[in-house]
Amino acid sequence: MRPVRPVGTVTRGTTGHNRLRRCDRWIAAVYGPLLRSARAGAAPLVVDLGYGASHTTTTELFTRLRRVCPTVEVVGVEISPERVAAAKPYEREGLTFVRGGFELPVPRPPMIVRAFNVLRQYGEAEAWEHWHRLRAGLHPSGVLVEGTCSEIGHRATWVALGADGPRTLTLAARFTGFERPSDLAERLPKTLIHRNVPGERIHAFLADWDRAWAACASFGAYGTRQRWIKAAELLSRDWPVEATPPTGGPGRWRLGELTLPWSSVSPRG
Ligand SMILES: C[S@@+](CC[C@H](N)C(=O)[O-])C[C@H]1O[C@@H](n2cnc3c(N)ncnc32)[C@H](O)[C@@H]1O
Repeated sequence: MRPVRPVGTVTRGTTGHNRLRRCDRWIAAVYGPLLRSARAGAAPLVVDLGYGASHTTTTELFTRLRRVCPTVEVVGVEISPERVAAAKPYEREGLTFVRGGFELPVPRPPMIVRAFNVLRQYGEAEAWEHWHRLRAGLHPSGVLVEGTCSEIGHRATWVALGADGPRTLTLAARFTGFERPSDLAERLPKTLIHRNVPGERIHAFLADWDRAWAACASFGAYGTRQRWIKAAELLSRDWPVEATPPTGGPGRWRLGELTLPWSSVSPRG
């Protein structure tokens, strides 16, 4: 039998310890119940697609998800054979590394596919195609979490997509990692980053968030966290910011997160 050629292209392997901590934490809180809902006897499967030059982000995702779902199995999928060989020694029960691409060479449809800093290295049209392809490979109730972050993860954004299409956009930052919320624009997913221009919803949203941020400057006296929470409350008057758990409300805002329905920021046309 001819080996199947992985779909995709080897790209830069930049990664690092705790780079994806914000996204791991969000997945555990928001989709932990989905993982626990797997029927008895079928361990929920999670893929970390394009883990890069080291096993680190996949191992960290595994450790964090095992805390909320002790039966979860995590597979790191990477298109570079050398990076798979380098990760193999770190396999353990429930954690494996395989070579592959967007075709997702895993034994059953995953509940979650996390792809971080992968699609940013493709063109915008390709990013939309790969969203479609990855969603098609999910478990029927599964979710794709696709995003981008800064070198050390202090600025990050990600989109969660289900079988029904894109659901939410989350923007997250370390409180010392930005001056104004629109600084996060440089880390928008590929499908949005070129849409941060006048006339597009994402542009209007970021401008309003900056205004809310400026209006809440006095709360900075109590710390940037309080300012972030107050700005989120103010922004909620005009934007459908998620305001209840698990995706929103003060419990999430205090972590430096903000989540919106995708439909409120999606590209026009
Ligand atoms: C910048 S690294 C990101 C590493 C890690 N996810 C992170 O955010 O720290 C991108 C990795 O994705 C891999 N990659 C690119 N396209 C891929 C594909 N279609 N399937 C699997 N891996 C892919 C590249 O080879 C590279 O190692």
